[in-house]
Amino acid sequence: TKPALVDSYGRRINYLRVSLIDHCNLRCVYCMPLHGLRFLPRQELLTPAEIETIVRAAVDVGFDKVRLTGGEPTLRPDLIEIVERLARIEGLRTIAMTTNGIRLPELAEPLKQAGLTRVNIHIDTLNPASLERLMRFNTLEKVWAGIEAAERAGLLPIKLNAVVIRGYNDEDVADLAALTLEHDWHVRFIEAMPLGTQANFALQHYVPNSEVQARIEERFGALEPLFDGRLLGEAKMYRIPGARGLIGFINPVSEPYCDDCNRMRLTADGKIRLCLLTDHELDFRRALHEGGMDALRDLFIRAVQAKPVGHQLRRGVFPQARGMSQIGG
Ligand code: GTP
Ligand code: 5AD
Ligand code: SF4
Repeated sequence: TKPALVDSYGRRINYLRVSLIDHCNLRCVYCMPLHGLRFLPRQELLTPAEIETIVRAAVDVGFDKVRLTGGEPTLRPDLIEIVERLARIEGLRTIAMTTNGIRLPELAEPLKQAGLTRVNIHIDTLNPASLERLMRFNTLEKVWAGIEAAERAGLLPIKLNAVVIRGYNDEDVADLAALTLEHDWHVRFIEAMPLGTQANFALQHYVPNSEVQARIEERFGALEPLFDGRLLGEAKMYRIPGARGLIGFINPVSEPYCDDCNRMRLTADGKIRLCLLTDHELDFRRALHEGGMDALRDLFIRAVQAKPVGHQLRRGVFPQARGMSQIGG
């Protein structure tokens, strides 16, 4: 495999998050407004062939990991074709997906067959009433069935993501953590990030992960740290002593990990977003149509050079142009 591109701060950039669609079948309160969001018209979405070409160019310049995101990626009717196309690209080591899990009972097996490596599934709580307040649908059983389907299909390791929101699920975190006692899963708690239309909500209901950890330790005693100063991805990983699975804390707000950032994002309408929390984007779809593979490779090299040092949340700078569902986290 090729060496990864190095940006102007010495970070190796090898991970491309590819948003397939800005629609979702849920409306998690920290991610999407209930009404009023405009969705991309279908003709503005990248086609499977365009996605394949852009990812081929990325792999040519040293990317080796792709994660499919949304909105909700399983709402793309051509999802299997997209995975099949990506699976044929030599040098692409990982094709992962982040999903709310609802459609995994039908899709987990065909996705695995198509070449998907693994899935991260988003589930904020095991309490059906708090889940419905947070995700705005009564969907716990469906998500649970999705998790089981992913496990059966061998999309491993299963990673569960929970965004912790004051007054919604902050009292349920120990129950989620308890899943790791019996299951060989990663349960990761994510600090709410303020962006797009939901920025104020995320700010007002923010819970630092130090508090989540304290709550979990109240029930299970001290967690064993599994890192020595380094992170596993962007998560700090721990284990309840004797548990099968792992617990992770993703702390973008309280402990920004921008210094270790290794990724960029492709939006569903073909823009490369240099940083989740900065609105600077470059038009890759246009480059593809005007200059083909050569133009795409050049633009990747320029994009990596232009990647900003990190986010400015601490200075009160919140990205406005797109919300979480329009970027894919
Ligand atoms: P793994 O490959 O399994 O480590 O997945 P991942 O953690 O990269 O992906 P996932 O989609 O599960 O993301 C988990 C959380 O991390 C989401 O809330 C993302 O928004 C957040 N996140 C991912 N990348 C970044 C980033 O570059 N900056 C910030 N601030 N947050 C990020
Ligand atoms: N802050 C942090 N994480 C968020 N996600 C969605 N909105 C936010 C937010 N405002 C998470 C979802 C999903 C991941 C891709 O992004 O939980 O797991
Ligand atoms: Fe949909 Fe995921 Fe956003 Fe929830 S967090 S509304 S599941 S895109």
